[in-house]
Amino acid sequence: MVGDAPERRFEMRPIGVVRSPYAERAQVPKGPGAEHKAEGTLELRPELEPGLQDIEGFSHLFVLWVFDRAEGFELVARVPLDEETPHGVFASRSPRRPNPIGLTVVELLRREGPRLHVRGVDMLDGTPILDVKPYLSGVAPEALRRGWVAEAEERRKAKS
Ligand SMILES: C[S@@+](CC[C@H](N)C(=O)[O-])C[C@H]1O[C@@H](n2cnc3c(N)ncnc32)[C@H](O)[C@@H]1O
Repeated sequence: MVGDAPERRFEMRPIGVVRSPYAERAQVPKGPGAEHKAEGTLELRPELEPGLQDIEGFSHLFVLWVFDRAEGFELVARVPLDEETPHGVFASRSPRRPNPIGLTVVELLRREGPRLHVRGVDMLDGTPILDVKPYLSGVAPEALRRGWVAEAEERRKAKS
């Protein structure tokens, strides 16, 4: 049913929740130069713990999660990284997207049963987690293009 794909719906049950120091959006560092060093915990449902076997060998993880406190979406909008020029939602990391899915790379500090202690969370406390996968970057730094983000950084440097 490949042709029907855009009409299909997918129901997912979170595999767990994020425990983070951020209760409100305003507390999460954002904008140019923002660094994500905050520690938090990915608390998986206990019955899913066997799925974490061998995860300790990975330094970093992809976390896929839901922007459960975002409302609606905007296809073109200004974002904190570039207040001057609007950008398309799929060329940005805006929380207000047609499918409110977040993606964060975190550093795995340690595991305690079904809990993963991590560094680098930018999610609010209680954020539902959809999936966790090992981070394996295959893109050479010289092959990476950073689009409008690099241009916004250059403009900011020139101004300062
Ligand atoms: C710019 S988004 C980037 C998130 C993720 N790294 C990504 O690229 O998909 C980060 C912002 O999402 C917001 N946020 C975090 N958790 C959220 C949640 N559960 N619901 C709605 N907004 C959230 C915070 O304001 C945070 O500053």
